[in-house]
Parts: sequence; C-alpha cells; structure tokens
Amino acid sequence: MALYSGLEILKAAREGKYGVGAFNTNDMEITQSILEAAEEKRSPVLLALSEGAIKYGGRPLIDMVIHEAKVASVPVAVHLDHGSSYESCMQCIRWGFTSVMIDKSHEDEATNTKETARVVEAAHAVGVSVEAEIGRLGGIEEHVVVSEEDAVLTKPDEAARFMKNTGADFLAVAIGTSHGPNKGKGRPFIYHDRIVEIANLIPHPLVMHGASGVPQTLVERFNAAGGVLKEAAGIHEDDVRKAVTEGIAKINTDTDLRLAFATVIREVLQKDPKQIDPRKILGPAREEMKRIVLDRLDVFGSAGKA
Ligand code: G3H
Ligand code: 13P
Ligand code: ZN
Repeated sequence: MALYSGLEILKAAREGKYGVGAFNTNDMEITQSILEAAEEKRSPVLLALSEGAIKYGGRPLIDMVIHEAKVASVPVAVHLDHGSSYESCMQCIRWGFTSVMIDKSHEDEATNTKETARVVEAAHAVGVSVEAEIGRLGGIEEHVVVSEEDAVLTKPDEAARFMKNTGADFLAVAIGTSHGPNKGKGRPFIYHDRIVEIANLIPHPLVMHGASGVPQTLVERFNAAGGVLKEAAGIHEDDVRKAVTEGIAKINTDTDLRLAFATVIREVLQKDPKQIDPRKILGPAREEMKRIVLDRLDVFGSAGKA
C-alpha cells in the first residue's frame, strides 16, 4: 500500500470524532510493535520519527520504517516529530515522509507564522501534510496557579489567526500536557474547555502531545526491577477519550513505549542473568510495547477505522 499523507488520515478522525495514534519509533522492534497492533485492531496510525531518532538510526532506520509502513495492511503516514527547521522538514520530505511537524512554538507569533508558512508552501507542493504548534506545551510541568498556566496555553484567537496565516493542516495545542513520565503530581490536568474553545474556531485536526498514560502497574514493575522513577504520572485515559470528542484527532505517545521497553528488559535480565541473546531480551520487550499500543488504540477509538 502507498503511504498516506497525515491529513488524509487525520481529517477523517476529526470528522468522525476518533483519535489516531502517532507513536514514536527508534528501531525495528518499536516499529513492528506499533504496526502489528495497528493491523490487529484495523487502526490507521502515524509512525513518528524525531530528529533524535533520525540521528540515532540514520538512513537504515528511515528506510526500514518507510518500507514497513508501505507493506502494512492499514493506512500509515510517516511523520517528522518536532521538526526544528525548514531544512530538516525538507530533508524528511526528500526521504519520503508524508507528514512533517515544524515546531517554532518557542518563537514569537510572527516568526512562528513566517517559518511555518514557508514549510507549508513547499510541503503542499508535493502533497505532504504539515503539523504546526502554537502555545508552550512543555511549559507546564505542575499544576501551578491558573494565571501562570493561562500564559502558556494555546490562545483560541491566536490559534485561529495562525492557522489562517500559515495554511498548516493540523495544530498541536498546549492544553496542560507535557512530555515525559512526570506530568505533574496527582492526576495531571487537561484544560478541556480550552480544547473546545479552539475547536469551535478551527476545523483542523488538533494534536495532543505529551499524551502518555504512564500506567502505574508498569511504573511499579519498573521500580521493582531496580529502576528509579519517582512521582511518575500520565494522562488518565478518560481525559484522552473526552479530548477526542472535543476535537483532538492525533494523539502522540512515546513515553509509554519507552517505559514498557525498559521495564521488560530489566525484568528479563534480572530473572535470567545469564541471558545474552538479543532476541530473547528484545522480543519480550516488543510484545509488551505491542500490548501498550493495542490498549491505546482502543482508548483512542480508532480500532476498526482502517
Ligand atoms: O516529543 C518528544 C518525543 O518523545 C521524542 O523524543 O527527541 O528524545 O526522540 P526524542
Ligand atoms: P509522551 O512523552 O507523553 O509520550 O509524549 C510524546 C510526544 O508528545 C511526542 O511528540
Ligand atoms: Zn511532542
């Protein structure tokens, strides 16, 4: 099957009020776990590569991911996660990516708009979709006072102006989530009202970064096997389900797969200290990551949509 563009997959999701998983990959095992789960659930999916992943795996990783995505029996887009520059986005398009994110959210609105519009013009000329971001996503690590949070959340009027002036296809919004396994003490908070306000102004698919659930059972297993993760907390699956009905169409997950991978590797090596066969170490980790993806696809509501 040919690759799908990001927008082809996500437009249907926003319209149909379901979420599509964008899972980060860095190697063959992660890629296989994502695609096997997507095929089993009949879910469309995005395979996301960060610039760090590209630096780590180079051309062999990129070519493997694109090949696996093409032979999958469900719609797959290959996506650049948090692209930092025009050059980086153009390089990924040359390699065959069908979706790129240009992340200039740390710049002022004028610069973000100008840089994003440049990428959109070039990407659209060759049928590639563009994700952009406005607001400060990583800025909220804990539940601080509302006025401070409000300063970094995506502002609906700015989001609408930004999408009109850039022509971007989907928008990453700052709504209270953050990357990594420590998303705030207690139950991390999502500003659902803010999603609704933004979605009322723009019809584009909205993107939730930092969406991992950080399952407590995995955290406990990780710590029991010698790991040290303190105050780990993720986004509750009920919040994700609700966000999807409000306009979130792309849901990014990386941390949950990292946690599953590292937990199982710790457990395997602890239980069997003589084990040196990479397949007996990485194979069970791949299975656990697949279980995570299967669960996530059910939560997102994309099962059966392929
Ligand atoms: O949003 C960041 C993703 O989790 C990718 O992380 O840049 O370490 O590959 P990375
Ligand atoms: P998590 O760290 O919550 O998995 O978020 C990943 C992400 O947003 C990648 O862009
Ligand atoms: Zn992200």
